Amino acid sequence: MALSQEEINHIQSVASIVDVISSYINLEKKGKNYFGLCPFHDDHAPSLSVSEDKKIYTCFVCGHTGNVFSFVKDYENVSFLEAVKIVADKCGIDVDVDVKTNTRFDRFYEAYDLAVKYYQNNIKTAEGKKALEYLHKRGLTDELIKEFDIGFASKTNDTLSKLLLNKGYKEQELIDIGISNKSNTIYDLFRNRIVFPIHDSKGHPVAFSGRIYEQVDEAKYINTKETQIFKKGEILFNYHRAINEAKKMKKLILVEGQMDAIRIYSEGVKNVCATMGTALTNEHVKLLKKLNVEIVLCFDNDSAGEKATLAAGELLSKEGIELSILRISGAKDPDEYILANGVDKYKEAVDHAIKFFDFKLNILKKNKDFNKVDDVSAYVNSVIKELNKTNDSILIDLTINRLSEEYGIDKNVLLNKVIKVEDTKTLTVTTKPRVKKEKNIRLLELLLYYMMNDTKYIKVFEKELSYIDNEKYQVICDEILAFYLKYNYINIADFISYSIESDSYETILDIIDNNINTELSDQDYLALIDKIKLINDENKIMQLKNKLKSTSDINEKLKITDEIAKLKKRDV
Ligand code: GTP
Ligand code: MN
Repeated sequence: MALSQEEINHIQSVASIVDVISSYINLEKKGKNYFGLCPFHDDHAPSLSVSEDKKIYTCFVCGHTGNVFSFVKDYENVSFLEAVKIVADKCGIDVDVDVKTNTRFDRFYEAYDLAVKYYQNNIKTAEGKKALEYLHKRGLTDELIKEFDIGFASKTNDTLSKLLLNKGYKEQELIDIGISNKSNTIYDLFRNRIVFPIHDSKGHPVAFSGRIYEQVDEAKYINTKETQIFKKGEILFNYHRAINEAKKMKKLILVEGQMDAIRIYSEGVKNVCATMGTALTNEHVKLLKKLNVEIVLCFDNDSAGEKATLAAGELLSKEGIELSILRISGAKDPDEYILANGVDKYKEAVDHAIKFFDFKLNILKKNKDFNKVDDVSAYVNSVIKELNKTNDSILIDLTINRLSEEYGIDKNVLLNKVIKVEDTKTLTVTTKPRVKKEKNIRLLELLLYYMMNDTKYIKVFEKELSYIDNEKYQVICDEILAFYLKYNYINIADFISYSIESDSYETILDIIDNNINTELSDQDYLALIDKIKLINDENKIMQLKNKLKSTSDINEKLKITDEIAKLKKRDV
């Protein structure tokens, strides 16, 4: 069922745009408005301004503007209707709307649901006994095996493929979604392995990771290949289960292996997910940023894990995500650490995770002899290099003080080596190109902005002007009038929802963004109307003069001259 505009407006009137946006990014009140880092461009200073009054937000750097729905739509990358549903949910409003938009993939999800059930069933069979024993030996209870839908792919070649073919799937489909493969005949991709379903962020199973459970000369894990529904760079193991707990704890632990995630989770620490051994991508970072929580990176205790921590840490901290690092010791990975030391020790370690910057300093300190001047100098220089990557002035100050104290270096010498970040940063910020608009156009945009804000401005417009001498803006004007006619009120936020499907939507947002800081004043509005009248008259005079040139009928000429005179008189 579709939602009516009235229902959408109602949800908007109930929703606090500040509360909703705060659930994604941190906002701070300054004066009348709230400010935060804009999530729609690489923001380094809070550029996003949110107005609770007007129920809209705008970024004064990239120009992203809209109401609560457009924020959620673009942040979560969902349809407008889905965004409305999400906002309604957040406000506790029940909306009866089916927003399943991924119907294109529903068939694939269903295939995976069937595959999960099939594998699960296998683990209870005689053939699955050894696999089950292996899991038990690793301390996974039946309950946990069920919760994670862990299953078993039997040794048979094609049972799952046949099952799905019988359900009406085509061979090519099964190959495309990574369940089957084909040489001469079709066969199942996973054979004789324990299979862990991998879910997307909405909780659909979209892939499997299959582990060997006895000594065989094969890769320890094989994972489903990349498919339309399994974009490896966009999926983290256990993300969908971890979301709520992460938000509650304001923290998410990120590990490498799914067994690590399962272990940590099974010990009651449910805010955990895993990269599954792949490098962290920008898409992963987006998923993590969405949560608006601290990330604790806890990768394996080897040099590969350290390297991955550095790489992932740089990506996450560049996005302004609060980040801590936990390097475990005495065990290969979190799974083994917990088995050896118990979960309480692990929790304690998580609480004592160090800041990413300190982690980097620890690495820089490695293999240095601080009795040697050369090593001290190399260390200090490399720290300065790191400082030049950040624009956190507090961090810079603290670090310089520390270096100065620890190594007896003059603070000014250090400070001089730190490039003024403001200077470098302004070069990289993608500023919205403010198109220099003709003055007349600016006046028309301002007029429309007034009209979007209050019905009294519409009434004055209808009485004093009634039309706009510009096709593009007349279309928007018509939409404003149509909204007013239909609902008998107007405000910017509801007008944005109303015009979301309009061809003029971008222009409307642009108008709002360009005029958002204008204080509305009745007097200014009347003056604006007068100016526009004048422009309209000038345009008309020009048209009449052209007509005058092209006509030879003396009566017509007299009539036109008379009209021109009238217009000129009016403008004096
Ligand atoms: P266990 O040995 O079961 O405890 O797994 P682990 O989590 O300790 O695995 P490891 O640290 O070796 O690897 C981390 C992650 O990388 C795993 O969870 C897998 O997702 C992935 N991985 C490991 N080995 C392989 C492999 O041989 N092939 C592929 N494709 N992925 C692997
Ligand atoms: Mn392990």
